[in-house]
Amino acid sequence: MKLIVLSDLHLMQDDPVRDQGNHARLYSAVERINTAYPDADLVVVAGDIADRGKLLRPYQDAYAALSCLIPPWTVTVGNHDDRETFKSVFGVGHCDPNGFVQSSHDLDGTRVIVLDSASEEPAPEGMRGARDPAGQLCPARLTWLDHQLASAKGMPVLIVFHHPAIPTCITLDDWILRSPEALIDRLVAHGQVRHVISGHIHMTTTSFFRGIPFTTIAGGHTTSVEDFGGRENKFRRTGPAQMAVVLSDADKTIVHFDNYVDANPDFQK
Ligand SMILES: [Fe+2]
Ligand SMILES: [Fe+2]
Repeated sequence: MKLIVLSDLHLMQDDPVRDQGNHARLYSAVERINTAYPDADLVVVAGDIADRGKLLRPYQDAYAALSCLIPPWTVTVGNHDDRETFKSVFGVGHCDPNGFVQSSHDLDGTRVIVLDSASEEPAPEGMRGARDPAGQLCPARLTWLDHQLASAKGMPVLIVFHHPAIPTCITLDDWILRSPEALIDRLVAHGQVRHVISGHIHMTTTSFFRGIPFTTIAGGHTTSVEDFGGRENKFRRTGPAQMAVVLSDADKTIVHFDNYVDANPDFQK
């Protein structure tokens, strides 16, 4: 089974300062997938599709680009997205019966569960934006997950969603999934969760907690740089733009990191 994970497209509209050519990066991702991985079983975009979720055009642009993919694809939303604006362009085909942007896919004996971790809580006082940038899995979303895990008893499971579930990055750990134990308890109880893949922190990390491996990818926008020197040392680079390529079968799961936009050109012998 071959799964591709993209994240953090942050498509913008009329914002030349923050925009790092994010539309072009998405087109590069689509071209890379269609050239190198046209046989992928699924492509998942793990949220932050738009940089400002109330704007329609970034979603229209994302939909047009993703529609050019050869493999099947699905999406979920991140803290920058607005669920209703998203649905006005993408429809409800990627949603669960409660309207959350989460879906389940059985691919060659492996179940891929895509969760919607965008918060419905208001932003903390003094914070920019209407919604809490940290992640949330409310009871309705967790109940849906319970059904997906129960009906996947004995199957390997991969989980994809926007927010990291465990702290990995000093400068951004305040904005990961809130109350992650509700999720992690469920994943541990299932016993066959092979990997949890997220974006949001714009950084490549791998970690291991309570028997489950976790990965974050740098995604399609700027890349966070951690120097472990403290919170005041937060800064970013323009890239690379990075997707995960996940290979999984009955015995093993492998995560590759494909930097589809990188300052280092291919070496030609
Ligand atoms: Fe992001
Ligand atoms: Fe995010």
